[in-house]
Amino acid sequence: MGKSISIVIKPVSAIEAVSTPCLVIPVFGEEKSTSLSSKCAKQLNSVCNGAVLALLKRGDITNSVDSMLLLPTVDQIKADRVLLVGCGTGKNLSEADFKKIVDKLVKQLKATKVKEATLLIDELSVKGRDKAWMIEQLSIKAGLIAYNYTETLSKPKPDTVLKKLTLGMNSSKALLTAAKQGQSIASGMNVARELGNLPGNICTPTYLANQAKALSRKHASLSTSIVEEKKMRELGMGSLLSVTAGTDQPAKLIVMNYQGTSKTVKPHALVGKGITFDSGGISLKPGAGMDEMKYDMCGAASVFGAINAIAELKLSINVVAVIAAAENMPSSNATKPGDVVTSMSGQTIEVLNTDAEGRLVLCDAISYAERFKPQSIIDIATLTGACVVALGKHASALYSNEDDFAETLLSASQEVGDKAWHMPLWDEYQAQLNTNFADMANIGGAGGGSVTAACFLSRFAKNMRWAHLDVAGTAWDSGANKGATGRPVALLTKYLINQSS
Ligand code: BES
Ligand code: MN
Ligand code: ZN
Repeated sequence: MGKSISIVIKPVSAIEAVSTPCLVIPVFGEEKSTSLSSKCAKQLNSVCNGAVLALLKRGDITNSVDSMLLLPTVDQIKADRVLLVGCGTGKNLSEADFKKIVDKLVKQLKATKVKEATLLIDELSVKGRDKAWMIEQLSIKAGLIAYNYTETLSKPKPDTVLKKLTLGMNSSKALLTAAKQGQSIASGMNVARELGNLPGNICTPTYLANQAKALSRKHASLSTSIVEEKKMRELGMGSLLSVTAGTDQPAKLIVMNYQGTSKTVKPHALVGKGITFDSGGISLKPGAGMDEMKYDMCGAASVFGAINAIAELKLSINVVAVIAAAENMPSSNATKPGDVVTSMSGQTIEVLNTDAEGRLVLCDAISYAERFKPQSIIDIATLTGACVVALGKHASALYSNEDDFAETLLSASQEVGDKAWHMPLWDEYQAQLNTNFADMANIGGAGGGSVTAACFLSRFAKNMRWAHLDVAGTAWDSGANKGATGRPVALLTKYLINQSS
């Protein structure tokens, strides 16, 4: 989990004198141009007697962002290898193109199995972004490739060999900070990915509680306490307890306290949905793809990731994390459709569908978080299939009871490239939760499923500056690249970084 790639920023000497296992050289210019615009490509070309230009003319490398060429040996220089990387226009790149370039080059470096590489990418620029932004993005991408899932493989894949990237450019405080923040964001994302990927028979609520305790042993600024079921009962958490009724795995409310500044400063609260397996309960889900409901704790995992990142960065803020960890299973003890439960807030809930369990655990966790008098509260949850229908896998759905809070989160999201989309939380939707038998139903009927789930939660956050992120579409990938993504750790961490400065 804790693997990372270190980043060094220092100007390099003459190109032929750079001693490195792999020298990364950008090639850019007009689309089909066969002349070199990049200064370092030109330098390399002249040291190598015109070889780079010849490759460009032959089309072995082009200026396209899809193009790349690894030269395993080059006689005239000290570097063991050269990686020529097509970088489009090079200057004023779109964010998307820059990300494509970074993505392909770090993947290639990983595949080439070099320990380190030197990147001469000082000439590149991105429209509307500064060098610090570029380095943060690069640092995140590099950190992400350090992760491999191995826990349950009898023949684990070998570790990523790449350990260090040297960026050939003048260093500055801003650039070093960007590199460091990128690294912490990536390692936080890797923490979230690992927890997400672990199967439900390993990653139980108890396992998550133990991970939280382990994390607080690692950081002096962090302390963990666990609210057990007995205490939940005393607190009146009838909603959370109704979800865990059908399983033998004890539910855990995990509370992590990060203290980075004076105790008198109000904390930011993060609340995570930690359903370690969501079978749907008595409203059982269909079999196909049900395995993916091991990912139903990815909201909680992102809270672990963000806490890990801010503890590593030693941010001068206070954060309280509350994770509602439970398993949703059918049994003769399980909650049934039509059952009415009383939440910690005193509001009663008719459980019309036991598969809408996320909001049932979150509402009590939100009420619990209120006791810390947080200055803001964000819950993160793989809450609804409807969110995936609405936004697909590219953006998390963002809801808030204060528009300026949503704006603050959106700008953090844009800054770090962890996309979110502001969704409506209009009163008109609230009526969909009406029922004759309780203060509210736990489902909102046809239409706007992600919105009505957010409406449900909003009823428990009335007195707080609250936001909700539905990450059902963004927290993991399906298909060939099946795996947890680590989102929205970057968004959360960036928000907290901005709050601390
Ligand atoms: N964990 C699921 C939401 C989910 C489903 C996330 C698929 C990602 C992919 C949640 O607990 C759930 O089952 N929601 C129901 C709510 C419905 C019963 C109102 C859903 O979305 O179908
Ligand atoms: Mn469910
Ligand atoms: Zn769920």
